[in-house]
Amino acid sequence: MMTSACSIPSSTVRHCPKTRLPPVWHPQLGFVALSVIPTGEKERNMRRIDCEEDLVLMYRNSLAYAVIAAWSGQGLFHKLADGKARTVEDLQGDNRALAITAPVLAHLGLLSSDGSRYALSPTGKTLLEAGALSLDSAERTHGDLSRFDRVLAEGGPARAADGSSRVSEGGVREHDPEGARAFMKYLYRRSERSVVEVARWLMPRLPEQPHILDLGGGHGRYGHELTRHGAEVTLYDRDLIVDIARERYSDSLQYISGDFMTDPLGGPYQAALLSNIVHGLGPDENRTLFARLADSLAPGGLVVLKDMFLNEDRCQPEEAALFGLTMLMYTREGQSYTPKEMEDLAGPSGFENIGVVSVRNLRFSLVFLQKTG
Ligand SMILES: C[S@@+](CC[C@H](N)C(=O)[O-])C[C@H]1O[C@@H](n2cnc3c(N)ncnc32)[C@H](O)[C@@H]1O
Repeated sequence: MMTSACSIPSSTVRHCPKTRLPPVWHPQLGFVALSVIPTGEKERNMRRIDCEEDLVLMYRNSLAYAVIAAWSGQGLFHKLADGKARTVEDLQGDNRALAITAPVLAHLGLLSSDGSRYALSPTGKTLLEAGALSLDSAERTHGDLSRFDRVLAEGGPARAADGSSRVSEGGVREHDPEGARAFMKYLYRRSERSVVEVARWLMPRLPEQPHILDLGGGHGRYGHELTRHGAEVTLYDRDLIVDIARERYSDSLQYISGDFMTDPLGGPYQAALLSNIVHGLGPDENRTLFARLADSLAPGGLVVLKDMFLNEDRCQPEEAALFGLTMLMYTREGQSYTPKEMEDLAGPSGFENIGVVSVRNLRFSLVFLQKTG
């Protein structure tokens, strides 16, 4: 198995220090707020800004990301996939631009160079093979950001250069099936270890062979992992996405396609998993969704929210604070929430917050809500 500087050692479970997450818990049910902290690894966060040099560094990072996106969008990494070293003249593009950008990529560790020829470095090769260097283009990755002034002045979602809205529904745009497929591949790849943690924390709380709703289940990897632990899983998503999940998991999952805000959800279920769903919705939409979930759950049923939740100070953790930006750009009302806000939105539908687990090494938390009413 390939290891890299990013590989995470095994985790230890510790009680959550108050500064990380407010401990929301229910003693009778035996849940406590926990933080799963990797042994021996520091969290990789952005640098804080202490002086102008830090700002300059941040600017350099954004330049470098644009170079990576453009190389990716132009298919240049793929041209090096066979492992052969090439001169910039061998690659297709403007020689001057290639001669200036290739050393940047070598400096960043994605290419290796003997001074005149370039090949993928071992890291570059690993990332390319994993699909992580299949970015759209600098225009697609940075174009929306370059119009952020307008978002700030007039509100999101962002607009494309032609003025059309860049709004998506959970990252999916109906008229862009290829984009949806690429997004599902990305989420599938990124969820390899999360699915294991979700099953580990959820399954012991459920009866034998529970029926679980994977709401907005997308690629299906979460649902599939739960079936490996004895659950029967119904994946609910839009037509286009259900087709993608079905191609991968065929009849090991059950499927319902529709709009989870308006169409029947099926059930009764012992649990509903909402992985990366609530951040795409506004407060009123979440309130409506919780009411709908209450109707489709068996008594005592659980809703499990897997997401990047903010601390009460709303500034930490980094991934949740920054993800709010993505929601501003690509949704009408989405945002990052605190676990307490989720509790307040679900409460009127008879849910009680019975626990929060923060899986710090994978940068997500689980909020457990139980239907008590
Ligand atoms: C960000 S993806 C999350 C996929 C998966 N749960 C995960 O965590 O990797 C959001 C999913 O919700 C689905 N979705 C969003 N709004 C929906 C709606 N109103 N009805 C059905 N599915 C919806 C999208 O199609 C997409 O597959």
